[in-house]
Amino acid sequence: MSAPTAPSPTAAGSGRNATERFAEKQRSTAQVDHARVSAIATNAITALHEVIREHRVTYAEYDALKAWLIRVGEDGEWPLFLDVWVEHVVEEVANADRKGAVGTIEGPYYIPGSPEFRSEGTLPMRDGEAGTPFVFQGTVTDLEGNPLDDARVELWHADDDGFYSQFAPGIPEWNLRGTILTGPDGRFAFTTVKPAPYQIPTDGSCGALIAAAGWHAWRPAHLHLKVSAPGKQLVTTQLYFAGGQHVEDDVAQAVKPELVLRPTPAASGTGEEVTYDFALDPA
Ligand code: DHB
Ligand code: FE
Repeated sequence: MSAPTAPSPTAAGSGRNATERFAEKQRSTAQVDHARVSAIATNAITALHEVIREHRVTYAEYDALKAWLIRVGEDGEWPLFLDVWVEHVVEEVANADRKGAVGTIEGPYYIPGSPEFRSEGTLPMRDGEAGTPFVFQGTVTDLEGNPLDDARVELWHADDDGFYSQFAPGIPEWNLRGTILTGPDGRFAFTTVKPAPYQIPTDGSCGALIAAAGWHAWRPAHLHLKVSAPGKQLVTTQLYFAGGQHVEDDVAQAVKPELVLRPTPAASGTGEEVTYDFALDPA
């Protein structure tokens, strides 16, 4: 009997898939606001000029930057680069006025249309899926605490090796991805396994930057969520595990204190469980 081939997270795999998915979904037909483009582009370019002056950047470094930028595109790693080092500030600005559930970055691995369940469900997973069995449950409410009927709770996360289905090779479609629609009590309960810490691909250009700078490539273990309901704002967020590796030094700087879970041993006697409620702002 031959051993199954373990999926390996390559830049040319997950990174390129993330680029293709993004390009498919992004069909921008927005009107260009010339004044805004000019203001933002001017400030961004001027900020770069200041960095060059401050650090007295050399021609050798300038050429290294050019070569690296070319390679990020060739590797298909622009979604990875932007979601790790830039998105958290876009999210901070976008959600500054929210009163309800706290958001954080989406990252590159969301796919709409995951299998749906009513009120409770077990995420699609392989026989003997590795990881601690885990029940993630809660209630979706409005800002006054009234339960929301027909709220959508979409959950996706990496497996115990830190890989995402539909992006890393060899994982069944929709593995560890699912959507719960709430009933009038606003409740949802997912049965899944706890994800593991996730290392962004180290074999491509983002990995080359991390190695050259002496940084690390790790994100803490996390659940990804999108929660919405009719007439309410959708929140995109992630939840982390207290005491987990890299909760304090996430490469993507996406951890916030409100997003750290403290699971307890499950009442069923197997695995762990945690309750987390989402209050949604009006649309
Ligand atoms: C990346 C991966 C993630 O799982 C995430 O949540 C954020 C960013 C990345 O590889 O860019
Ligand atoms: Fe992630």
